[in-house]
Amino acid sequence: MKYPLLAANWKMNMTRDQARTFCRDLTAKLDPASLSHVLIAPPYTAIETVASCLSGSVRIAAQNCHFAPNGAFTGEISTGMLIDLGVNAVIIGHSERRHVFHESQDLVTHRLRGVVESGLHAIYCVGETLEERESGRTFDVLEAQLEPLPNLGSALDKVTLAYEPVWAIGTGKVASVEQIAEVHGRLKERFSSLAVLYGGSVKSDNIRSIASLSSVDGALIGGASLKVDEFLAIIRETLIVKGV
Ligand code: 13P
Repeated sequence: MKYPLLAANWKMNMTRDQARTFCRDLTAKLDPASLSHVLIAPPYTAIETVASCLSGSVRIAAQNCHFAPNGAFTGEISTGMLIDLGVNAVIIGHSERRHVFHESQDLVTHRLRGVVESGLHAIYCVGETLEERESGRTFDVLEAQLEPLPNLGSALDKVTLAYEPVWAIGTGKVASVEQIAEVHGRLKERFSSLAVLYGGSVKSDNIRSIASLSSVDGALIGGASLKVDEFLAIIRETLIVKGV
């Protein structure tokens, strides 16, 4: 991965036609050097379309995957199937998987291991709920979510962390620069070799102050990554602030 990294998590949005138009606009408006700092995580159904439109200029991620190579797992997608589509990375442990779909830490740990063992890169998401923050348990929760990392051994270099406070996702409530600095600082202390992205209501009008933190290596962007001009503004602001 090339940092700063601006990662678009499209979640359950974008038909193939919409994805094609987005990618055409993105590549027309951004130079190749800047495109190398971009990652797009389309829904599974648009991965092949995005991969063929972007032809290697942008990294491509899936939004989840199973840990087994194949088998009787209805509704799941394996790492081998993703590699076959030209995927480079997989988002694992996103808060919507943990909280909306009730993926346990055990399942998330299996998925993470499956991804890095397949040779794919993992964007591993951690973050606390509002209730956990308000009861002073933020760092205990993060610590429990980080537990699988030391056991990955040398495959740890295939991990990018993403700090996404659950209360800031899709709510318009961005974490303060102080809150981001505190958590990112702690994550960097714990895993000094890992890059850490921030995610949660990132927009073109707040990215400048977030990206100016040295402990922020980029952003994982949901809603604002669906509009190409807004996403472009976030990319440009970040690259300027980071001096790229
Ligand atoms: P929003 O940018 O829509 O808050 O979503 C953040 C996120 O969940 C990215 O993975």
